Amino acid sequence: MRSRIGFIGAGRMAEAMIKGLIDEGVYTPDGISAAALSESTRDRMRETYGIRMHGRAAEAAAEADVIVLAVKPAQVRGLFEEEHLVLEPRHLLVSIVAGIDIRTLETYVPGSRVARVMPNHCCMVTSCASGYAMGAGTTEDDAATVEGIFSPLGLSKRVEEDALDAVTGVSGSSPAFMYMMLDAIAEAGAGFGLAREDALQLAAQSMVGAGKMVLESGMTPEQLVDGVCSPRGTTIEGVKLLREKGFEQTVAEAVTASVRRSIEMKRVG
Ligand SMILES: NC(=O)c1ccc[n+]([C@@H]2O[C@H](COP(=O)([O-])OP(=O)(O)OC[C@H]3O[C@@H](n4cnc5c(N)ncnc54)[C@H](OP(=O)(O)O)[C@@H]3O)[C@@H](O)[C@H]2O)c1
Repeated sequence: MRSRIGFIGAGRMAEAMIKGLIDEGVYTPDGISAAALSESTRDRMRETYGIRMHGRAAEAAAEADVIVLAVKPAQVRGLFEEEHLVLEPRHLLVSIVAGIDIRTLETYVPGSRVARVMPNHCCMVTSCASGYAMGAGTTEDDAATVEGIFSPLGLSKRVEEDALDAVTGVSGSSPAFMYMMLDAIAEAGAGFGLAREDALQLAAQSMVGAGKMVLESGMTPEQLVDGVCSPRGTTIEGVKLLREKGFEQTVAEAVTASVRRSIEMKRVG
């Protein structure tokens, strides 16, 4: 990408993104700068990725056209109201901060173009699922820039900002639900004599494969379930039990609980 990218914050998410963007060839290290508070983070990022590191957000912003805001939600206000970070008209602000909406971000950087992205932590293995929304003043080129950053990290979908709460439940929180399922599958497998680590790896690869089947086969989840359930076979027995126990309903309720919490967090601010 021709633009230069600057990260404000170089913690877990920013590092995962930086690693992925370099690995995927989207940016070279000399096109990336970042800011972090502590010297230890700055040294580590410099040494590991060869990017330019700064102690102040304004220094990273000065070297970039696209600014990724990747600090904790509680750190955002200080950045703009105490450090007085000011952005230039050339900057596109891309926030990955949970729970701070575009309108609020625009009050911090009046006149700037703002996009908001909800990635998930699978960014760390370049298998991110992100939803993004574009602010009122942005252009189609800005949307292409956001797409060009997040698509190579996994999969990205443009949505209306209101739908980002749903994205939070569907892809932000859902990896945790899937880890719980993997753990339970591995535990059950271990109960029948499989080494637990082998069971966990077999289950995890099955989850990766099932995801790929949904993404690539063109079949619906229902058709895929039918496809693996032969009458009087093994899978149908497990599927029947999950249905009797309300598995689908429970999972849907878990997603709903996460979405509701996302909405509530925005209200609390
Ligand atoms: N983790 C997830 O799964 C996930 C998913 C989606 C979205 N998010 C969002 O991503 C954001 C970052 O999360 P994270 O887990 O990466 O947080 P994190 O590991 O705590 O990283 C925060 C980073 O911000 C730096 N920082 C704080 N204040 C700063 C300032 N004034 N100027 C420059 N740098 C500053 C910190 O510096 P030091 O390193 O020196 O402390 C640190 O590098 C959050 O807003 C979160 O809501 C996270």
